Amino acid sequence: MAVFPRFMSFLNTGSAEASRIATASVTGVAAAIQALKKRTPPVHFLPGLEAPAELSDTAQVELAAAGPWSAARLRETLRKHLQGDRVIVLANREPCIHERTPSGEITILHPASGLVTALEPVMRACSGVWVAHGSGSADREASDSRGRLEISTGDASYLLRRVWLTEEEEAGYYYGFANEALWPLCHLAHAHPIFRRSDWIQYQRVNQRFADAVAAEAGCEDPIVLVQDYHFALVPRMLRRRFPRATILTFWHIPWPDAERFSICPYQQELLDGLLGSNIVGMQTPQHCRNFVASVDRTLEVRVTREELDVVRQQQTTLVRPYPISIEWPDRWGASLPDAAECRARVCADLSLPLDTRLVVSVDRMDYTKGMEERLLTIERTLEQWPQNGPPLAFVQVGAPSRTRIERYREFGRRIRSEVARLNSRFGRKNYQPVILLDRHCEAPEVFRLYRAADVCYVSSLHDGMNLVAKEFIAARADEAGVLIVSRFAGAARELNAALVVNPYDVEGVAETVVKALTMTPAEQRERMRALRAHVAEYNVYRWAGRMLLDATRVRQRERLHVRLAGRARRWSPDMFRR
Ligand code: F6P
Repeated sequence: MAVFPRFMSFLNTGSAEASRIATASVTGVAAAIQALKKRTPPVHFLPGLEAPAELSDTAQVELAAAGPWSAARLRETLRKHLQGDRVIVLANREPCIHERTPSGEITILHPASGLVTALEPVMRACSGVWVAHGSGSADREASDSRGRLEISTGDASYLLRRVWLTEEEEAGYYYGFANEALWPLCHLAHAHPIFRRSDWIQYQRVNQRFADAVAAEAGCEDPIVLVQDYHFALVPRMLRRRFPRATILTFWHIPWPDAERFSICPYQQELLDGLLGSNIVGMQTPQHCRNFVASVDRTLEVRVTREELDVVRQQQTTLVRPYPISIEWPDRWGASLPDAAECRARVCADLSLPLDTRLVVSVDRMDYTKGMEERLLTIERTLEQWPQNGPPLAFVQVGAPSRTRIERYREFGRRIRSEVARLNSRFGRKNYQPVILLDRHCEAPEVFRLYRAADVCYVSSLHDGMNLVAKEFIAARADEAGVLIVSRFAGAARELNAALVVNPYDVEGVAETVVKALTMTPAEQRERMRALRAHVAEYNVYRWAGRMLLDATRVRQRERLHVRLAGRARRWSPDMFRR
C-alpha cells in the first residue's frame, strides 16, 4: 500500500532532488580537493561500490514484519543500515545531572523530562553521542576536560558531551527565548509569548555554540545528527552550512501551532529557515506537520508536495513527517516493581493514608500547560459528589519543580499550593488530607510505584505534544488494572483511544468521568488496559527511533548514490578537458 505514494513522491521531488544533489556533489568535490591539499581526506566521501543498495520499500516492509521493535532490533537495524556510522543526538536536557548536595556529596538526578525518558533507551541501543547543556552544579567535576563522560548501563554505553553555558547565555537562550517565547507560542494555554531581542541574540549565539559542539563530535563529512526540540531551531541550518552532506533529522517534541499564531513571532523566518536545514523534520502528530508546512508556505519561498508534505527550498528537500514518540517497552522500572498490592501498601504507608483509600494520581512538571488548576477544580467537584460513607478518596499530585527562575512558573506554583491548601481545608478532616502535593523531584522508581498503586491516573494537559506520563502509567500496569483518563489536547489521546478521553476545561464533565473511572468494573478495566498495553508495546520508542532512522537511511543512501553518479558524470564531462 505504502509503496505507490512513496514512489510518486520520489518522482515529484526528483528534479529538485537531482539538482540539489548535483550542487552538493560539487561542494563535496571542492571539499575533497581542499582536504587532499591538507592531507586529511574526508571520511565517507564517495563510498565504495560495496556500499549496500538503497533500502527498498520491500526491505522496509520485511523489517516491519520482523516482530516488535526492541533495543536489540534497533541496534541491529542501525548496524545493518548505518554501517557503524555514529549517531549524534543534540538535546538541551542531559540524561543525568550531577548535583552537589548541601552536605558536600555528589548525587545524580534523572530529570523529569519526556524527552529524556524517550531518548535515553535509544542512546543505550545505538551507543552514540549525546550533546547537552551541562546544567548540574557538579557536572564539571564529573566530566573530563572536554566535558565528556561515558554513561554505561549494563552492557550498553554511550557518550555524554556537556556544553557549558554562562549565566547570561542560559538566561537568554533557555529561560528567555526557549521558555518565555517559543514555549507559550507553541502551546495554547492562556500564556502570551514574550519576545525580547536580547533573548533572541542569546538564542542565536547558543545555537551556534551547540552546533560547534556537534561539529567537534562529528568525525566525518556526513554525520548523522538528531536535533531535538525547540531549543535548537537554528542548528540544522548551521550544520547544513558546515556539512552539506550531513543527514540531519530534527524532532519537535512540542505542538506546532497554526500558521496564524506562529506568524506573531518576529523571528519566524529565521526559525523556519533554520529548521529547513534538516533532511527530515519530525512532529508528534499529522496536524502539527500540517501546521508547520502551512507556516513555511506562508512565510518562505518554497514548493510543497501535498501528498507527502515534502518542502523543497533552494534545491534542498525537507521531509515533514509524524513520528509519535513513545517509551521503552518493556519498561525497566515497571519490570522491577513489586505487585500492585505491595505498591499500594507502601504508598499508603508513606503518605499516611488508610489502605482502602481510592487513589487518583497525576504526575507532571509544574507547568501551566499541564492543566493543574483545571484539575484542582475537577477534584473539588469530585469530592463534592463522593459519598460521605464511601472509602476515603485521595488525589496525589507529583509536581516536579521546573523552570523556577521564570516568574510565571513561580507564580503558578504559588497558585497551585494555595489551591491545594484551600481544598484540604474544605474537605480535610483530622488525619485525612484529600489532596497531596509532592512538589519535589521524584526519581522513576517512586513514580512507577505510585502508578502501580493507583486506581486512576489523570493526565490533564491543556496542550501537549505527546505526554509520556500516559504511556508510563500503562507500562506500570502489568496487572491490567487501573484506569487512564487523558486530555484530548495531549498528542497521546490520538493513539490511546481505549483510555477515557476528556476535555480538561469541562470541569463537571471530567468530575463525572473520574467517578466513572473509580467505579469501573475490573473486567472493563482489564479490557481497556489490555488494548492500551498492546498499543504501547507495539508503538514503543524503539519503533519511533527506528522509523525515523530508516527514513534517514533512505535519504542518506539515495544521496550517496546520486553523489556517486554525479561524480561519474563529472569524470566523463567534456568540460573536464577545457582549460
Ligand atoms: O516537551 C518539551 C520539553 O522540553 C521536553 O523536552 C521535556 O520533556 C520537557 O519539556 C522538560 O523541560 P525542561 O527540559 O525545560 O525541564
